[in-house]
Amino acid sequence: MSFDALEPLTVDPVSRTYAALAMDPRVDKVDLGIGVYRDEAGGSPLMAAVREAQLRLATAAGPKTYLRPSGNIAYCRATEALVLGADHPVLTENRIVTVQTPGAGGGLRAVGEMVRVLAPKARVWASDPTWGPQLMGFAAAGCEIVRYPYFDRATNTLTFDAMLAALKGAREGDFVLLHGCCHNTTGEDLTPAQWDQLAVVLRDGGLTPIVDLVYQGLSEGLVEDVYGTRLLAATCPEMILITSASKAFGIYRDRTGTVSMIGREAGEVLANVERWLTRVVISLWFQPPDGGAAIVAEVLGDPVLTQAWRDELEAMRTRIVDLRRALHAELGFDFLLRQKGMFSLLPLDEAAVGRLAAEDGIYVMPDGRINVASLNQAILPRVATAIRRQLG
Ligand SMILES: Cc1ncc(COP(=O)(O)O)c(C=O)c1O
Repeated sequence: MSFDALEPLTVDPVSRTYAALAMDPRVDKVDLGIGVYRDEAGGSPLMAAVREAQLRLATAAGPKTYLRPSGNIAYCRATEALVLGADHPVLTENRIVTVQTPGAGGGLRAVGEMVRVLAPKARVWASDPTWGPQLMGFAAAGCEIVRYPYFDRATNTLTFDAMLAALKGAREGDFVLLHGCCHNTTGEDLTPAQWDQLAVVLRDGGLTPIVDLVYQGLSEGLVEDVYGTRLLAATCPEMILITSASKAFGIYRDRTGTVSMIGREAGEVLANVERWLTRVVISLWFQPPDGGAAIVAEVLGDPVLTQAWRDELEAMRTRIVDLRRALHAELGFDFLLRQKGMFSLLPLDEAAVGRLAAEDGIYVMPDGRINVASLNQAILPRVATAIRRQLG
């Protein structure tokens, strides 16, 4: 055996885009690719409540010994309540176990492993299109992935009927991976009425939802954005929830997320689920990092910091809505107004994406995904003009 035995792997188009962006010497180059929130000055702000929590934790100078494989309990409890609402039956009936993970990225990998040990023959249904890395953890765990149609690029619309029809053809015991809100890559979300229909199809079909919730607070509001998640948790007997604090707290590199498994009832079955989940996370990373979890627990454990965080998150959300309006005024695509959160897919093919980078120094994802939150009023007219030129 030698390292040269590895099957050759070509550089994927997303990595190629990032490499070209890094090499581009133009000072006015624009990164509309990476999925991080930016402010009007183009920076990625440290939220005031996060800063204050960080200072408090540094001053307290607590120990840095191991916590536990399942992570920071206060953070896990606070996340459950933030997502489901403290009075949700799942919480009042103690039907949930939660572990902390290194971001939702780690969570997706752990859930892939849980699916494989739970039901090796079950399939995982995922939206087409989706954010590529969402599926990598499931594939690495050996899960069979099948796709349900989600978005029609010719008409820029949600293909809800086709999605339901596909899921009605799923086998009992299959899993269905859903974006909680702000679908990555399309920004196209289900309406409450569509969530209602979907919940019935999942329950009646014996399908287990896996909700990947990474953008709570960036679509319509902290409560509005979890309509579907709360509904599924109340409708389906079992569910898996993956969350992230990366976006809503702006702590991407601190790697902070959770996996929750929601069961039919409190008791031995769920206790066993918890033991399995713990075994899985030990095998994957032994212990999660605590920096980000401690910050979120501090913010959500203090009503003053919580309010400051909510206010700042709401300002981020409304900035994205304003930018969507401004881009709509320039490009005229109605879907920009309907879609939620940072992402939309522009009708640009790979050649147009390449020309946009080469001619104008404007970098979008190879599939045409843009991060609206990377825009600001100063660069928006120039970016819109360049995009219009590529649209023809
Ligand atoms: C849908 C989705 N899931 C998971 C993740 C990973 O997030 P994290 O930073 O928590 O690993 C992202 C990040 O962009 C995402 O968009």
